Amino acid sequence: MTKGGQSTRAVVLAAGLGKRMKSELPKVLHPVLGKTILARVLSALDGLNLEHIHIVVGHKADDVQAYLESNPPKTPWSTHLQKPQLGTGHALSMVAPALATFNGTVLVACGDTPLLTSKTLGDLLTAHKDEKAIVSLLTTVVPDAKSYGRIVRDGQGRIQKIVEDKDASDEQRQIKEINPAIYCFQWPEIKPGLTGLKNDNKQGEYYLTDLIGWAVSEKLKMASAIASDWKEVGGINSRIELQEAGSLLRDRVLNELSLEHGVTIVDPDSTWIAPEVKIGTDTTILPGCFLEGDISIGRNCSVGPHTTMNGVVKVGDNTAVIQSLITDSEIGSDCRVGPFAHIRLNSSVGDMSRIGNFVELKKTNVGKKTNVSHLSYVGDAEIGHNANIGAGTITANYDHISKTKSRTVIKDGASTGSNSVIVAPATIGKDAVVAAGTVVTKDVPDECLAVGRARQENRADWVAFKKRKAAQKV
Ligand code: UD1
Ligand code: CA
Repeated sequence: MTKGGQSTRAVVLAAGLGKRMKSELPKVLHPVLGKTILARVLSALDGLNLEHIHIVVGHKADDVQAYLESNPPKTPWSTHLQKPQLGTGHALSMVAPALATFNGTVLVACGDTPLLTSKTLGDLLTAHKDEKAIVSLLTTVVPDAKSYGRIVRDGQGRIQKIVEDKDASDEQRQIKEINPAIYCFQWPEIKPGLTGLKNDNKQGEYYLTDLIGWAVSEKLKMASAIASDWKEVGGINSRIELQEAGSLLRDRVLNELSLEHGVTIVDPDSTWIAPEVKIGTDTTILPGCFLEGDISIGRNCSVGPHTTMNGVVKVGDNTAVIQSLITDSEIGSDCRVGPFAHIRLNSSVGDMSRIGNFVELKKTNVGKKTNVSHLSYVGDAEIGHNANIGAGTITANYDHISKTKSRTVIKDGASTGSNSVIVAPATIGKDAVVAAGTVVTKDVPDECLAVGRARQENRADWVAFKKRKAAQKV
């Protein structure tokens, strides 16, 4: 531990019911642009290199715990159960036992503010440390104070207390400076204030906000910072606010892509791109795209219209992806994908290849300069370079009886004719040719032609015979 209580931990309050969401899903697990509200708060905290993040859980704690275990923050973390949920002050006191030997700063944030940035949190932390304060808080001025706690200042402009909307007088309700609920506290100095909180208010809750009034009455050193962008610190309480947060985040991302990264966004209103997405210079995003996840798209690409990407997706340079759905897959440079392609589950497409309309690739690697141009399902397959997969080629990869899947290998330069079915496991050799309409049930050696279909027979007199018979019936 650093001397003089310099180490810093964070506490995230995420135990509340979120009643106004009217949802079975805990409020903090609702997604904003593909990532939960809680994960967005945690990634802002991850940017600060803290010692530990304590997360207070309560309502549907098991769901939140399970979520965190599969999506952990980068910082060491732990959860602390608050049951019943008796208010934000009560929530913080759930962490007190874990802080028994801690001496330092506790940065408190709520789990419902998805637009929060590391910078804003870091600025408050810096102000708190520079001024050697015991209690610091962020405030911001909003056009509509809604249900936020109001910042009450005295004649000299010094913060006196926070009054909750429900407890505020009509005059206090006019105040536009509000509490975004982001604080820094020196621990253990604030412990007596936390222990002494009362619930004698309209909601019968132990308010964390009362610690401000307590610090003032105890004449403790305080610091505050005013967040210039009130939109950043907004908490989500309803589906409308969830929607608004999504739009604000989207606008922030699109502005940054356009102004700083040289990306053309043709129609911002219909384009949804998450902050995690990286896009190279001179790429154009056409209308109706949803790009959410750990996505990177190279330079000079064209994406859309109406293209969805999610999960971990990588696209090279000079590639066009048209009206397609790409999930957890990689596409090389100089490729053309779509319209209406579906590429998923760890598939990859090599440079200069084409994946055409109504083609689905699942767990399939396609080499370079290979075409799968029309109407194909290719699953669990390895396709080499310079191959051509004819229209309507299907890999029959699934055995319904054994419930197992088998792989298909199609080597460099091979081609499959239209409407061929490859019953896996099977290997099509190098430069081999599968004739149209063939059902491949055994391996095809290199440079071989595989034909597996009934031989065609032409019956010269058949139509005349049919016509004669029909005439006799009349
Ligand atoms: C709180 C603040 C208010 C501030 C607003 C900012 C209090 C008393 N009020 O009000 O001044 O303007 O946030 O958004 O602190 N939580 C728990 N346990 C509880 C209650 C809440 O963990 O017992 C968590 C919630 O999950 C949520 C956060 O604390 O993430 C804030 O709770 P919420 O009920 O949304 O508080 P507000 O009424 O918005
Ligand atoms: Ca709130």
